[in-house]
Amino acid sequence: MDREEALKLLRKYISNENLIKHCIATSAIMKGLAKRLGEDENRWELIGLLHDIDYELVKGDMNKHGIRGYDILKSYGLNDDIAEAVKRHNYSLFEPENPAEIALQAADNLSGLVIACALVKNRKLSEVTPKTVKKKFKDKSFAAGCNRERIKLIEKLGIDLQEFYDIAIKSLLEIKHELDLK
Ligand SMILES: [Fe+2]
Repeated sequence: MDREEALKLLRKYISNENLIKHCIATSAIMKGLAKRLGEDENRWELIGLLHDIDYELVKGDMNKHGIRGYDILKSYGLNDDIAEAVKRHNYSLFEPENPAEIALQAADNLSGLVIACALVKNRKLSEVTPKTVKKKFKDKSFAAGCNRERIKLIEKLGIDLQEFYDIAIKSLLEIKHELDLK
């Protein structure tokens, strides 16, 4: 499955444009991380894009989030490793076990933090630096829904926070128009 097909599939299940943008952003960071780590860029991109596919279906039920997503993706013939990572990104039920799962939990939470940094700069992502993100990371009331502990998981993959912010900003800049950012 390529990116276009995955986006089409995602739109079948998700109507909230902000959630679509969250998935696109997480996907871009996953792709950037895959490149850095020598992993399969297409596979990690798809994992990011599809990770919240069941979000509207389960209506916030965290006992089902990810598990329904797994079933949906399997029914469309996606590989088990992609479906498993989607299932296991629900950290109220699972701890990540492999690099893709660790990266997803970290990227899922960093994407919102970086975008929030851009929003307070008049949507200018081009003005967000790793230093900006570092400062906002420490301010726990800023984008409070972004779990800092999950972001820190990236260190398990040999990437420090500073580099992670840099990868995330550069990855998001490549698709900034899809996020309505400048
Ligand atoms: Fe997410």
